[in-house]
Amino acid sequence: MDSRLIMWIHPFIQVVATLAGFVAMYWGVRRFQMVHLKQKVPFPWKQHVRLGSFALCIWTLGLGIGLLAAHQGWGSIMVTDIHYMVGFAVAPLCVTAYITGTIMDKRKKKRTVLNVVHGVNNLLLCLLICVQVVTGVWVIKVFLIY
Ligand code: HEM
Ligand code: HEM
Repeated sequence: MDSRLIMWIHPFIQVVATLAGFVAMYWGVRRFQMVHLKQKVPFPWKQHVRLGSFALCIWTLGLGIGLLAAHQGWGSIMVTDIHYMVGFAVAPLCVTAYITGTIMDKRKKKRTVLNVVHGVNNLLLCLLICVQVVTGVWVIKVFLIY
């Protein structure tokens, strides 16, 4: 495959994962309102789990694909400064999100700690993803469109 085309795979799948992840976050905020603020709002449990798992999986896979594409296209990795550094920080947050989410999904009960750990971890995760979108667009402008 043309290496110029390969370079577009990572940004494309990461944007798709980001859309899914932010919908999962929207539902997560609903759950927060329901549990902590005692508001009567719906929380589509299954869809949250499905869409959240999809986003976490693609963000993590996409990290590897970004590195592979950088190696293929530029012959070198870790050249994008903040973008790759924040990218590495995203990985452990995805793992924590998945583990805490899976435990809560498999054993349903009233929770006070794990749901907060999951929520805070994922809030930080989504903030870092926003950084990735901004710096990713910068990488596209500087390195891909020339
Ligand atoms: C992009 C990924 C995700 C985001 C942004 C996210 C966000 C959130 C947030 C903000 C909450 C509310 C926490 C609270 O009430 O304090 C929540 C709850 C929950 N999440 Fe996620 N989540 C994600 C992925 C997942 C995954 C992959 C799973 C399961 C495999 C999962 C399972 C759950 C469950 C079961 C709850 C309800 C917990 C309870 O109240 O007992 N989440 N999520
Ligand atoms: C959401 C929008 C994103 C955009 C537009 C974007 C854009 C890019 C671009 C254009 C590259 C250059 C290599 C290539 O074209 O494949 C790249 C590399 C990379 N990206 Fe992203 N990215 C995004 C999200 C992410 C996320 C969420 C992560 C981490 C989970 C990530 C981690 C990386 C890494 C590790 C590299 C390799 C950089 C290097 O070796 O210097 N990116 N990204």
